Amino acid sequence: MNELQVELKSQLEKFCLAKIEPHMEHDDEVEEFRMDIFTDLGNLGFCGMTIPETYGGAGLSYQDCAVALEEIAKYSVSYSVTVSVSTMVQAIINDFGTEKQKTTFLPALTAGQEIGAFCLSESSAGSDAGALKTTAKKTEGGYILNGTKMWITSGGIAKTYIVMARTGEAGSKGITAFIVRDGTPGLSFGKKEKKMGWRASPTREVIFENCFVPEENILIGEGQGFKVAMAALDKGRITIGAVAVGLSQRALDESVKYSLTRHQFNHAIFEFQGLQFMMADMACEIEASRLLVQEAARLYDSGKPNQKIASFAKLKATDTAMKVTTDAVQILGGVGYTREYPLERFMRDAKVLQIVEGTNQVQRVVIARQLKKEYQT
Ligand code: CAA
Repeated sequence: MNELQVELKSQLEKFCLAKIEPHMEHDDEVEEFRMDIFTDLGNLGFCGMTIPETYGGAGLSYQDCAVALEEIAKYSVSYSVTVSVSTMVQAIINDFGTEKQKTTFLPALTAGQEIGAFCLSESSAGSDAGALKTTAKKTEGGYILNGTKMWITSGGIAKTYIVMARTGEAGSKGITAFIVRDGTPGLSFGKKEKKMGWRASPTREVIFENCFVPEENILIGEGQGFKVAMAALDKGRITIGAVAVGLSQRALDESVKYSLTRHQFNHAIFEFQGLQFMMADMACEIEASRLLVQEAARLYDSGKPNQKIASFAKLKATDTAMKVTTDAVQILGGVGYTREYPLERFMRDAKVLQIVEGTNQVQRVVIARQLKKEYQT
């Protein structure tokens, strides 16, 4: 870690211990998201980390951003993931938007006054994102959107929605990306999902019923939406990987601390080799995940293709989070399974990391396709 990253981590550690940690048990229980926490993160510069300063961002690299998201996730996966998805939305506008779109939509997002949401998935188009059915029909001055998006992180609390909708032929080539603002007539929110984890981060259906979106809110052009979404996910898979590393690290920290103080058979349980080996494996897998996340970020920051490594990072870091949090509950034993300790929450928060931003089966598809290309050329 460089000097700046050490400083970011230490600033976030202080903030999270004071502002996030005290609420997490309660907010997980009652499914509460606190906008003031998000805005405070924005005031410190953490809501638009990778966006240029011209648009109110911090102008940091993805490597810096990964360090920051990892630190937030040690205290709350829910807030870390809200920042991660909002960062992906901003990246889409920054990479593919016009100057007017950037100056109109980015400043409130980078400041943390508003949240961004990414609307790709539908009930019958999850892994097969190119099969989406939401339509955008051309009309005078814009498009009329109809359809329902599912499992949308920050649905209902976000103000800016990037929406993938069909303007043309079946499949990935007929998809276009739009910017839709909360409050647009015809945009509403369906049921809030009751989830196993990420309970302080709302997930909702986002519904479009004859929702008029002006032409000026189209991103790049008709038929480019699938590529916009895939390019965004190449970055989202780095940041979700970083979230997973933070969660795993916290689970290991709690496991080591607990096992050094818990005594059975006249020894701290840390002294039993069976547990030492578990914790050694946890530490090793976490460091391997962190290095992959940093490598995917480094490649992106230096303008090199990172698709395969981003999928490596997402796959490895999120499978590790599931394994490490499960083992952490095992190390704590009975109390690990209760809400007296946060380990059971960590285990619940880990599961969906293997599903979002492309399931870990989809990551293997992406990796295998790249391998085929590399070996065929
Ligand atoms: N960057 C740019 N373009 C890309 C690309 C990338 N990374 N990947 C693919 N493309 C392009 C291809 O080059 C191709 O273009 P051409 O036809 O011009 O060559 C086009 O996109 C179609 O590509 P594929 O043929 O590979 O598409 P596919 O239909 O076979 O799908 C897939 C591939 C990898 C399975 C893809 O559908 C996928 O990633 N699915 C998972 C979807 C996903 O990740 N959803 C997550 C939801 S968002 C979320 O979870 C966020 C949240 O709220 C937490």
